[in-house]
Amino acid sequence: MAETIKDLLRGNNEWVSEINQKFPHFFEDLEKGQTPQFLWIGCSDSRVPATEITKTLPGSIFVHRNIANMVVHSDTNLLSVVNYAVKVLKVKHIIVCGHYSCGGVNAAMSNDKFGFIDNWLVHVKDVYRLHKMDLDVIEDEKERANKFVELNVMEQVNNLSMVSFIQEEWEKGEYPYIHGWVYSLNDGLIKDLNVTVNDYHHLDEVYQYNKK
Ligand code: CO
Repeated sequence: MAETIKDLLRGNNEWVSEINQKFPHFFEDLEKGQTPQFLWIGCSDSRVPATEITKTLPGSIFVHRNIANMVVHSDTNLLSVVNYAVKVLKVKHIIVCGHYSCGGVNAAMSNDKFGFIDNWLVHVKDVYRLHKMDLDVIEDEKERANKFVELNVMEQVNNLSMVSFIQEEWEKGEYPYIHGWVYSLNDGLIKDLNVTVNDYHHLDEVYQYNKK
């Protein structure tokens, strides 16, 4: 594992050599521009890097990461990323990828106070409150946390579906599809929650713009 700043720079040099050997025109081609098909909204956790775990190279995935892979409608950073991805890059798929054993989700499930970050985690707590009936009945804490991680991803898929400029795209055509995935730290595998949507009909009526 990289421990020092020098390790990172040495790693970069080695990586460049490897890429150049495998794909002689890689950097030349990428410099011309990006045409990623995917937007990834994931957790900031160092163990869940979008490209490594999907075995993809730079240029494949447009990425936004924050604690607990949240879609908060007042987050102009996230909204700008999503807007650019959808309107300019025209990504075909948006993936919300959570992960089991998420520190942010576990913290939100607890009654512990963590300081400044509590103001971010309160959005995760909102998801718990929404699904309290289903979550409180799960006695095993780890199992409850896992279910909470999944429900949180599904809620973020819903939150994306509520974004007016995404609904605008759906009026024009098929894309983007929004997917909900969960990554397992213990085996490296991604689970598709099968909650893929490309319309707003799963949402409460009040969130449906230009409802026909
Ligand atoms: Co996390």
